[in-house]
Amino acid sequence: METKILFVCLGNICRSPAAEGVFKRKIKDRNLESLFFVDSAGTGDWHVGNLADQRMRETASLRGIDLTSRSRQISGNDLYEFDRILVMDKDNLQAVNLLIQDQLRPINSKVELLLSYSKSTLLDEVPDPYYGGQDGFEVVLDLLDKAIDGLIDSLI
Ligand code: 4NP
Repeated sequence: METKILFVCLGNICRSPAAEGVFKRKIKDRNLESLFFVDSAGTGDWHVGNLADQRMRETASLRGIDLTSRSRQISGNDLYEFDRILVMDKDNLQAVNLLIQDQLRPINSKVELLLSYSKSTLLDEVPDPYYGGQDGFEVVLDLLDKAIDGLIDSLI
């Protein structure tokens, strides 16, 4: 059976679509695609329906990673559909935990900070690049690269 993975950030236009794209690239390269279903979502709804931020798409594209997802907001249903929910920062974690509190029955998902899977950083949050410069998008991809290697290794 597929393991269903959901990456979550605030807007679902920078960090979590990049995490989705990096994860998909890596499982394709490792011939593991049949093991996973992968998606991303935001805790907010401001960008619903939009492609990922152009700066994030361009930075990812230069590393051979295509970002094609459209922004959507996380829903209560996701807490039952997905096996694993990986959040980018502690605000996302708090928002998902509030959604969990609204549920009337036990959820299926395990919710964790993505960077807990990285062996290469002392950071526990992926910094939000939205209001910063170009280097912020590179930092996001560097952090995601290592954390997602660790995540995949833990899942196979
Ligand atoms: P993301 O970045 O959570 O990584 O997608 C953001 C995108 C948009 C906004 C904030 C963060 N915003 O305030 O619109």
